[in-house]
Amino acid sequence: MNQYVINGGSPLVGEVEIGGAKNAALGILAASIMTDETVTIENVPDVRDTNVLIQAMESVGANVIRVDRHTVKINGSQIHNLVIEDEHIKKIRASYYLIGALLGKYKKAEVPLPGGCNLGTRAIDQHLKGFRLLGANVKVAHGAVVAEAKSLHGAHIFMDKVSVGATINVMLAAVMAEGKTTIENAAKEPHVVDLANFLNSMGANIKGAGTDVIRISGVPKLHKTEYAIIPDQIEAGTFMMAAAITKGDVTVKNVIPKHLECISAKLIEIGCEIEESDDAVRLVAKDRLMDTQVKTLPYPGFPTDMQPQMTVTLGVSEGISIVTESIFDNRFKYVDELTKMGADVKVEGNTAIISGIEKYSGSAIAAPDLRAGAALVLAGLVAEGTTTIEDIHYIERGYEDFHIKLANLGAEIAKVETEKDLRKFAFKVV
Ligand code: EPZ
Repeated sequence: MNQYVINGGSPLVGEVEIGGAKNAALGILAASIMTDETVTIENVPDVRDTNVLIQAMESVGANVIRVDRHTVKINGSQIHNLVIEDEHIKKIRASYYLIGALLGKYKKAEVPLPGGCNLGTRAIDQHLKGFRLLGANVKVAHGAVVAEAKSLHGAHIFMDKVSVGATINVMLAAVMAEGKTTIENAAKEPHVVDLANFLNSMGANIKGAGTDVIRISGVPKLHKTEYAIIPDQIEAGTFMMAAAITKGDVTVKNVIPKHLECISAKLIEIGCEIEESDDAVRLVAKDRLMDTQVKTLPYPGFPTDMQPQMTVTLGVSEGISIVTESIFDNRFKYVDELTKMGADVKVEGNTAIISGIEKYSGSAIAAPDLRAGAALVLAGLVAEGTTTIEDIHYIERGYEDFHIKLANLGAEIAKVETEKDLRKFAFKVV
């Protein structure tokens, strides 16, 4: 019964190294099987999502060598099976990037429909639309997507919605198609750009990633490369928020400040001091934080993956704040857990009205999904008394050594497996 147990009240102080971006790693790992040569990828975060995707790749015949905790060598030349087993896709949604990669290289793929965090409906209609426009015959049968094409040709694809996943998946399917593909209304997230840079380092011809129009000229082959994944914008933002809520002084290292601009702007707005250098951001919060209004938007807007962490921080700030979730249709489920800690948050549709309280009180809660789980840890860090958090496997999907990094910053947090350990930690003299 792995749980986090947290004795609240310690301000976070010190430095924390940010790992590789999970959501860049997933697209890049899938793309790595599109060459028969060996690809070396560094700065891969050691989290469940990337490890499960690697297992899914090995299950179809990719050869993966772990050089060290964060470096893998991958060779896809021995891939013999283009059907991904259900057990992998059930564990993480992003296994569906293997559709784009396998279809793009082998012109065939069969992958069960994705699972993933329940943030509301997680349609994949834009993915399938892109595959079809590139010339694939795509059907959904027996709970799986089956995509096949005699050949793939360039297309002009206008995304009905800005979708990170669809932009990534269509890019994968298009890089080796014959001719030119244009993806309009494309997602501009840093991890989309990182994938495009990775594919270009393998010999692809992709221009415009990071803008809403991506232009791809198909190439017949991709070759080996050595590549390092960008730092994780959301892990960095989560630690910045943890410093803010605990009135600490934390420097997040190995980051790209540009990717954090919107998060930093909001934190300054609520009263934090921020100092940026080339690859680090220092956040100092001295006084009680203030209220603000936030609306989640596609990059470069405020990231939806930081919405729970922001709401939790505003829950103990001055005044009344408004958080509007414009990306997912059900990303406030965690408010029920936060209410157990004394929060005063009213959710009306996709908007949360947050009346700041003095202090959360420790409680026994459960992580409902990855980012909400991390946000509830932040609430525990400042709660009066002890908080226990169950279902931390959600959090471990996307945060490497989360409790260790927090403890190194002064948090009273531990990962416990038995009730006995829990009691020992929870009631130790604080
Ligand atoms: C990616 O999910 C991320 N996951 C999510 O992060 C992130 O919250 C999301 O992008 C938005 O930034 C990975 O990268 C593995 P979308 P994705 O397609 O690609 C709708 C985390 O915490 N939509 O941009 O699934 C969809 O329902 C995770 O690491 C369609 O309608 O997100 C949603 O409402 C959680 N049709 C909106 O678009 C489609 O074909 C944005 O989804 C695709 C999406």
